Amino acid sequence: MSELARNLNALDERFAAALAQADDERALDAVRVAFLGRSGEVTVLRRSIGRLPAHERPGAGKEINDAALAMEARLEDARAALQRHIFDADLAQSIDVTFPAIAPVEGSLHPIRRVLNDVCAYFERRGFSIVLGPEVEPDYYVFDALNIATDHPAREGFDSFFLSDTLLLRPHTSPMQIRTMQLHTPPVAVIAPGKCYRRDAVDARHLYQFNQIEGLLVAPGIHFGHLKGTLLGMCRHLFGPDQQVRFRPSYFPFTEPSAEVDTTCPRCAGFVTQCKMCGGSGWIELGGAGMVHPNVLREVGYDPETVSGWAFGFGIERLGLIRYDIDDVRRYLENDPDFLEQLG
Ligand code: PHE
Repeated sequence: MSELARNLNALDERFAAALAQADDERALDAVRVAFLGRSGEVTVLRRSIGRLPAHERPGAGKEINDAALAMEARLEDARAALQRHIFDADLAQSIDVTFPAIAPVEGSLHPIRRVLNDVCAYFERRGFSIVLGPEVEPDYYVFDALNIATDHPAREGFDSFFLSDTLLLRPHTSPMQIRTMQLHTPPVAVIAPGKCYRRDAVDARHLYQFNQIEGLLVAPGIHFGHLKGTLLGMCRHLFGPDQQVRFRPSYFPFTEPSAEVDTTCPRCAGFVTQCKMCGGSGWIELGGAGMVHPNVLREVGYDPETVSGWAFGFGIERLGLIRYDIDDVRRYLENDPDFLEQLG
């Protein structure tokens, strides 16, 4: 065996051993550089050709080239095998078509929105329109037009955020009574939900930003009985068929007579003396209501001799507390997924 043949055999053995060791792309690359690279083993062998007698040189050159080609082919095979291996391993690890799918996280309607939708649905079925108004109002709509003159003590009850001398964040949705009646001739039947703001300290029952829903019905011959029937129906729609409502005399400058509206405590219905929701009274307060004051009707150009109307304003957070048995209004704003999912 010629010296070159011996050298090629030894080279081949070393190459095979190195290839067997290489178990990733980088190791394969290192093998290529060591054997087939510019100053690799094959190049060293090629240089040795110069020491051979001239007639042996072409044959030796061909032998080395053939060996180099064979090595390159084996390197490519090894690379392909490695990639297949990686792919198979990936496949085995990541795809199990029998594995149960992970359920996507679904959003849900916020409890405030759900109560709002239900109240709106009740009134829409009875022919009421839903109207929306600005949260920043001139004091004319918030107070003056609602029969609350500048020096009227009732202004104190609405502890408002003023943006200027005359502009404020609305502390109730009642301005929408004025805006609606100024825009339309009677009969009008609207509900107006929306955000309101008052300078209240935050606790379990109070937020400085909250939602109200205003109701207004004005037409010839409307009387207090219509108000009672409508609100009784609303409470039964929201809380169940056995609900009762109770009206306590109250005072608002824009309604006469005025009332505070209570509904039976849905948790205890008055049978549990220690009830945490109603304090054992059996009743829960919903908000204010009454017959639209003649001064308010006159202010918007209506004739109190020919039309009359009722109005109410309830807190939506309060309706949600009752409906979902929530103990603290701050929960509405915490965005706790457990809370939202449970009610969603
Ligand atoms: N706007 C009153 C409040 O926020 C509630 C109310 C509305 C009372 C309509 C009577 C009529 O306290």
